[in-house]
Amino acid sequence: MSNSPFLSNCTAETIRDAAAALKAGHLVAFPTETVYGLGADARNPNAVKRIYEVKGRPSDHPLIVHISSINQLEKWASDIPEYAISLGRAFWPGPMTMILKRSDIAQDFITGGQDTVGLRVPSDPIALALIQEFEKISGSAIAAPSANRFGQVSPTSSEDVREELGTYLTSYDQILDGGSSAIGIESTIIDCTRSLPAILRSGFVTKQDIESTIGILGVDSRGESEMKFSGSFEKHYAPKCKIYLEKQMIEGAAFFAMVSIETPIGMNRIGAPITVQEFARTLYSVFRTADQRGFTSLVVDAPNGDGIAVAIRERLVKAANGR
Ligand code: TXA
Ligand code: MG
Repeated sequence: MSNSPFLSNCTAETIRDAAAALKAGHLVAFPTETVYGLGADARNPNAVKRIYEVKGRPSDHPLIVHISSINQLEKWASDIPEYAISLGRAFWPGPMTMILKRSDIAQDFITGGQDTVGLRVPSDPIALALIQEFEKISGSAIAAPSANRFGQVSPTSSEDVREELGTYLTSYDQILDGGSSAIGIESTIIDCTRSLPAILRSGFVTKQDIESTIGILGVDSRGESEMKFSGSFEKHYAPKCKIYLEKQMIEGAAFFAMVSIETPIGMNRIGAPITVQEFARTLYSVFRTADQRGFTSLVVDAPNGDGIAVAIRERLVKAANGR
């Protein structure tokens, strides 16, 4: 197992084995550029049911279907607006999920009974290879939520997945290793069911990216709280320790901030990212480190501004309210 970022031990044979396991109805956790996913055959109700069991997630909570390319869009969705095609062309493969009106093959057990479906083409090479191989042998796609127990922090390494789900998986299930996730926070979710797109969850693809792609300003950020059966039910992203976002000194607490910000005396620095991208990439592993080292408080000085800083603050606010 590799601990170095962005490295993988996966071979073509590993990928073929994993695709075969999916076809047989087993689960495969796999790396993506955002976070690790827990995958099942999106057309197999029993396999998808196991995702909910392993995660401990309520079954009315919809899953993202991971497809191999924009060419599969019409298979899973219908009434696709022109702007969704533009967004797909611009950001797929990549960290963007579109919510669209579903086609007949996106069934209730995927969509939580809604008439919409979430679709994403990830860019991680292992994820893409797995989806392509699975599509080749089954004609299907991979349903996958983040590979954590319900309400816990999303995993950004195969070790994290093992820690989260190891005891719930069988010997027929698999965990593919792809090193540390390159982006480290979940995909941007865009509601594409109306005349204009609306952001339901912020991510690496930003409001500004979306606006410049579709040539319209004022794209709405509704936030997950308005999403039906959304992450609003889930106390997402929360570690066990309590998170504080106001500048303050808490004796003995863990402290996480950009490298330019000094560590307040009496606190324990557990990360000093140089860029906002690095802040996002390491955020969830900082949460895990704080818990592993037994801190009960984590003070975070979040980056300001637009772009991915918005997605970071969205996660932090949820994490701070989480417990
Ligand atoms: O980056 C990601 O998106 C990762 C990787 C594995 O692709 N996946 C992920 O999945 O974060 P999950 O299930 O942990 O979060 C997906 C969110 C959930 O809050 C779910 O409710 C929402 O997307 N969602 C999925 N389909 C939906 C739909 N049809 N309508 C509204 N929300 C939907
Ligand atoms: Mg999740």
